[in-house]
Amino acid sequence: MTRLHSFLITVLATCAIFTSNAQALPDPDVTMLPYPQSLTHSEGVFCVDGATFNYDKELDKASIKAIKQFAARFGAKAKKAGDLQKGGFNFLLDSALETEAYTLDINTDKVIVKAGSHEGVFYAIQTLKQLLPAEVYGKTPVGKDWALNCMSVSDRPRYGYRGLNVDVCRHFYGVDQIKKFIYLMAVYKLNRLHLHLTDDQGWRIEIKKYPKLTKVGAYREGTQIGKDFNNHDGKRYGGYYTQKDLKEIIQYAQEHCITVIPEIDLPGHMVAALASYPEMGCTGGPYSVWTQWGVSEKVLCPAKNATWTFLKDVLAEVAALFPSEYIHIGGDECPVKEWEKCPDCQAMIKELGLTSDKESSAERKLQYHVMKEIQAYLKTKGKKVIGWQEIFKSNLDEGGVIMSWTSRSVGVRAAKAGTDVIMAPSFSCYLDCRQSNNTDEPLSCGSNGNRPVTVKNCYDLDPSTGIPADKQKHILGTEICLWTEYISTPEHLEYMLLPRMAAFSEVGWTELENKSLDRLKTALKEQHFHIYEILNFNYRSALDF
Ligand code: ACM
Ligand code: ZN
Repeated sequence: MTRLHSFLITVLATCAIFTSNAQALPDPDVTMLPYPQSLTHSEGVFCVDGATFNYDKELDKASIKAIKQFAARFGAKAKKAGDLQKGGFNFLLDSALETEAYTLDINTDKVIVKAGSHEGVFYAIQTLKQLLPAEVYGKTPVGKDWALNCMSVSDRPRYGYRGLNVDVCRHFYGVDQIKKFIYLMAVYKLNRLHLHLTDDQGWRIEIKKYPKLTKVGAYREGTQIGKDFNNHDGKRYGGYYTQKDLKEIIQYAQEHCITVIPEIDLPGHMVAALASYPEMGCTGGPYSVWTQWGVSEKVLCPAKNATWTFLKDVLAEVAALFPSEYIHIGGDECPVKEWEKCPDCQAMIKELGLTSDKESSAERKLQYHVMKEIQAYLKTKGKKVIGWQEIFKSNLDEGGVIMSWTSRSVGVRAAKAGTDVIMAPSFSCYLDCRQSNNTDEPLSCGSNGNRPVTVKNCYDLDPSTGIPADKQKHILGTEICLWTEYISTPEHLEYMLLPRMAAFSEVGWTELENKSLDRLKTALKEQHFHIYEILNFNYRSALDF
């Protein structure tokens, strides 16, 4: 008999017969992921059957909507109430609590939830759901015999930025799959969905001013076969999000307290755009949307007027579409071989007075110039930028963020220099790497020195190690990355995500002293795998990490 089954039977006896009798009940230490900042157990249970749902009239609309949805799951209607200390669930506004923070007080006769924001209310509800049988995530009716253990929880995240990056370029995943991910991100209190929307192998966002991006750039004439870089399958492949699709994703994400951050990767990783508008290249092409993986030497020519007009127009549409304060502008893996030979690029280098030195070539400095110009442009649109670690030396203006991906070391250097950082080191965060050395793992990327990224590797990340106390504020948070070169189906995508996303939730949320790999394993086995089954997610079930 699993712990879950014994819990259900015990609760049945407790709630149906003895009501407030204290018995062995679901261990919140088992079910809560990410683990909260503080948790104090007390005697007894709160029986949910027939409970009322009351909320503070001062709460915002989004919070009230979330409370009503939660109540509806129990067949109840949430009501505005003056007296919020009576029986049942009571949701109170507490403006002293910072965004995302909440408290729960579960007593035998009432549950008091306090939060200062929609995020806080929403996360309190996520926690309450994790304290109930996994069926609360499904469509089956809530059990009359369900209960919550009495306890007090005070919770807030370790970091403000807790992200998931999905590469929808190498393989495209539609609106429904992205919404499915958003729902699960919310379960784990992740709050940033970074969509990698443009790359050599496909342009995936409708831009009204540049229709060829989606007519031409969204489709490739084949896909590399396995690891054979010289052969593709010859099958036309592609797809893209309309702006209407993206609005739907953004809205759904907002309801789940998630900000969608779009990435327009520049000036490298631009073959799909060059195939659509070849006048933006150093050579003029011809170009075709790439059918293989890797890093292409074909990049935007920063010395062409067409390039700047294009980037500004595209980013203006992107800035208008996405409410996020940040836009990711890529900057990774930009070979400068073409720039070395391009007379226009060389003239621009001369005009800007860029010269090579020990650290950077003149061409690399040209890339830094591009990144800074784009940052300045986006500032006029009210946006800040995030870029991959390669642009650290661009000397981004204040507010620019570096995403450290090959390891933590560039991020550590950047934070020490006073630049904001998001840690996404491949050894912990690159979920395109296989999860173990077992021979039956599906084909995977092989970055990260061909080592696996086990659940433990992911869990053990401490984004702030090695950062002096006065620079800790520059570690904004952390992100896992689902690159999809070798991931062509939703089943495979979900397998790579789970259960590593569950482990990662504690990297971003939970204080170090509250982390425990043993607890994580038990949580997965006793509760979370069951949640995945109910939500119809594929996952890796071996607990061999
Ligand atoms: C990256 O993996 N090129 C950011
Ligand atoms: Zn050029």
